[in-house]
Amino acid sequence: MRMVIAVDGPSGAGKSTVAKLVAAKLGIEYIDTGAMYRAVALHLLRAGTDITDAEAVLAALSALTIDLDGGRTMLNGEDVSGPIRTPEVTAFASKTSALAPVREKLVALQRRMGAEKSVILDGRDIGTNVFPDTEFKFFVTASPEVRAKRRFDEMTEKGGAPDFAEVQGAINKRDYDDMHRALNPLRQADDAALIVTDEMDAEQVAGRIVEAVVRK
Ligand code: DC
Repeated sequence: MRMVIAVDGPSGAGKSTVAKLVAAKLGIEYIDTGAMYRAVALHLLRAGTDITDAEAVLAALSALTIDLDGGRTMLNGEDVSGPIRTPEVTAFASKTSALAPVREKLVALQRRMGAEKSVILDGRDIGTNVFPDTEFKFFVTASPEVRAKRRFDEMTEKGGAPDFAEVQGAINKRDYDDMHRALNPLRQADDAALIVTDEMDAEQVAGRIVEAVVRK
């Protein structure tokens, strides 16, 4: 049976770690839709596109290919998995993901990717907009403090020296922007199962999702 699993939630909730685990457990493909928005942001940033100019954005998008290849994010054939994770691209992605042509292009691509095989996608609007008809929807979240702490630990582990208040401020701003944009804002679908992960690790969350999927 082909299945589409939608995992939505705010940044730092651990969605991608969980989605990767579920994909491995069920033997299905993982689609990181945030990476796709980040790749578009990187492209527009590099091209110096004026993002208030709809024509310019459309032109910049027309010659753009994005592929997810075994965990790597490819932009016009270039592996951009590293560059799309910088704070600059992260902040810009929040802005460019609010643009209609960007969302139209990526939503169409995501629907094609999930049309013929079983997939798990994580993002902000998968259950509400990309695959509203799928029966497997999860909204994974955690308190802002816990999410900031996780992001802080992740950055420290990677050798950075982050400032906690700054990390928390950036997360709060992104939450606000993602929830208040006009197009497909971050929202829990009415029929999505809510999983609050403050007291859970990624394995436990993945186990909960696998159990719910297998039960149906
Ligand atoms: O999940 P992430 O942090 O990698 O996402 C990067 C940005 O892309 C984030 O600001 C929200 C946006 N995004 C979106 O608008 N819709 C999605 N389905 C996934 C991400």
